[in-house]
Amino acid sequence: MASTLSRLGNWFNERAPGFMPMYRKHMTEYYAPKNFNLWYYFGSLALLVLVNQIITGIFLTMNYKTSAAEAFNSVEYIMRDVEWGWLIRYMHSTGASLFFVVVFLHMFRGIMYGSFKKPRELVWVLGMLIFLALMAEAFMGYVLPWGNMSFWGAKVIISLFGTIPFIGDTLVQWIMGDYLPADSTLNRFFALHVIALPLVLLLLVVLHLAALHEVGSNNPDGVDVKHGPKGNRWSPDKPTDAIPFHPYYTVKDSFGVGFFLMIAAFIIFFAPTFGGWFLEHDNFTPANNLVTPTHIKPSWYFTPFYAILRMIPSFLGTAVWGVLGMFGAILLLGLLPWIDRGEVRSVRYRGLGFRIGLAVLVISFLALGLVGAGVTAELIPVWFPGADVTTVENAFGRLMVLGYFGFFVFLFIYTHFGFEKTKPVPERVTTHD
Ligand code: HEM
Repeated sequence: MASTLSRLGNWFNERAPGFMPMYRKHMTEYYAPKNFNLWYYFGSLALLVLVNQIITGIFLTMNYKTSAAEAFNSVEYIMRDVEWGWLIRYMHSTGASLFFVVVFLHMFRGIMYGSFKKPRELVWVLGMLIFLALMAEAFMGYVLPWGNMSFWGAKVIISLFGTIPFIGDTLVQWIMGDYLPADSTLNRFFALHVIALPLVLLLLVVLHLAALHEVGSNNPDGVDVKHGPKGNRWSPDKPTDAIPFHPYYTVKDSFGVGFFLMIAAFIIFFAPTFGGWFLEHDNFTPANNLVTPTHIKPSWYFTPFYAILRMIPSFLGTAVWGVLGMFGAILLLGLLPWIDRGEVRSVRYRGLGFRIGLAVLVISFLALGLVGAGVTAELIPVWFPGADVTTVENAFGRLMVLGYFGFFVFLFIYTHFGFEKTKPVPERVTTHD
């Protein structure tokens, strides 16, 4: 058996001699810093969820019907009559939410440890393109079950393009292919969700990892691993303080995968709607253009950006500012490598201002998420009886919008004009062993 396998291996290597060295360089012998911590699980977990979405998506497509007349019922058919259909569907819907949980934490890690800074700007920008593609993918997927929230969500989000001067109305009709979200909208969203965007995502992920492997990974200390003969007891000619991906990080990542799968399985089996956060109650009734849901809101992962849109008031007779604010919030994240010019990468050794700024960013982002999801509107009458809900919500929401954008403005001034007082950075990466 072994000799048959090695002969097969030899046969393959003679015909594709470049393949094994490439596999070793990017997989088994990719040298990564030895001090990775919990925050470094989320890249591999994002890959796992991507694979889950593609595989469960293929099986859903086998029974889903792409037409406004049949889509809703076909999803119910998957849930009730297709063998294991409920499991496949819940794996896909839970996977969508967990994808964003994992990607948000992955991005936060990057900001915390300065992984977007030189020489990893390209890794970051490709990551941001992935984020945009992922948002488009999730939005279009949400429309496919053709529930009432699918319909109204699509209507509200597509109508945003109507605020663009001159071409807005025409653009909205062009995107929908009709005057309302309709059969034509559903068909084109299906095409984009099932084939176009997954291809784009896969390509971007390959480029993201290729770009990372060109420069090597950052780490929680944010210091470069040294190149030199000494210090690496596994392989003296390899970078100091770095270890091969296999077996060290394959084992570590497997632990993360096991833990993650337990959480995912718990949600899938015991709380698939997650109290209406992962699958909204209004989406269990079919699309109806005559019945507007009481609160139209997007999925939880869009709510911080949706809140920015709602909190920025119209002026000069146009609502385009909210739309600009929403896209600007994402653009600013992409521009972080140029906004933050601090010399020190990791939060461990950065100035107090950066740490406070980062806390403000996180709090504002989470608070905006609650505003966008309508949670604050529900809490205000309880906490402040008699107060005008809209006035209090607007005041709070706008303060959080200021917090979010303030972080970027502050960081620019703080790092461009030399206000940051950093701590001494260690020569080599630190570990607890
Ligand atoms: C489908 C989504 C994504 C996948 C599958 C993915 C995958 C990965 C993997 C496997 C790594 C190496 C392991 C690690 O450092 O955790 C990585 C690193 C990185 N990713 Fe992503 N990523 C995704 C999205 C993003 C996004 C949205 C951003 C930010 C905009 C981003 C920024 C980064 C950065 C800066 C690194 C280098 C981190 C370091 O060396 O400290 N990624 N990614």
